[in-house]
Amino acid sequence: MPKLRIAVLASGSGSNLQAIIDRSVAGGLDAEIVLVISNNPDAGALTRAKQAGIRQMCIDHRQFASRSEFDRAVVAELQAAGAELIVLAGFMRIISDIFLAAFPDRIINIHPALLPAFPGLHVHRKALDYGARFSGCTVHFVDGGVDTGPIIIQAAVPILEADTEDSLAARILEQEHKIYPQAIQWFAEGRISIEERRVKVRGIVPASGAQISPALEMAE
Ligand code: GAR
Repeated sequence: MPKLRIAVLASGSGSNLQAIIDRSVAGGLDAEIVLVISNNPDAGALTRAKQAGIRQMCIDHRQFASRSEFDRAVVAELQAAGAELIVLAGFMRIISDIFLAAFPDRIINIHPALLPAFPGLHVHRKALDYGARFSGCTVHFVDGGVDTGPIIIQAAVPILEADTEDSLAARILEQEHKIYPQAIQWFAEGRISIEERRVKVRGIVPASGAQISPALEMAE
């Protein structure tokens, strides 16, 4: 079977990109990263791609008069590279209908919260201020909203008394690096379907048990 051709879009340090590269190098992914695009010329993601010998480019959104013009330029590169799945990994731009129409049900995103709680920006601050006992991360399909598309996989991470935005972000990031390659692998294996809002993954092992935080002290 030929490998799934994926493109990764990233604006920042690119640790999720690195997790996908590492899985792929270790032979655990039926996917090949054909292109990495960043809107930020200083993104660590571009350096990581370069180091891994992956084709990369910066398309700086500031050079475009509108969101649609920027999206058209990005879509043109993705199509020219023959990308079959678009992986947003810390890509801090909202994508337009032009982008969605070019890759229907073929754009996925990772968000550092347990959606639908805490969409948008500053999510760790929001989770801490709210007093939530859990946060986590979510891999989901991208639709027209902000962090609203059908959910593929989530990891729940307990929030600790001593947590700061940074400590919580770091523990969540560790889980992001596990669930994103897994979601991509399911997609590459053709096991994912979307029924209304619900994503079905053929043949998955169901999660067991519940997590309670803080832990129970009473005997069950
Ligand atoms: C990750 O935590 C990702 O979930 C988040 O940005 C970080 C990028 O880290 N994405 C969003 O907030 C999207 N709204 P990375 O560059 O090290 O992969």
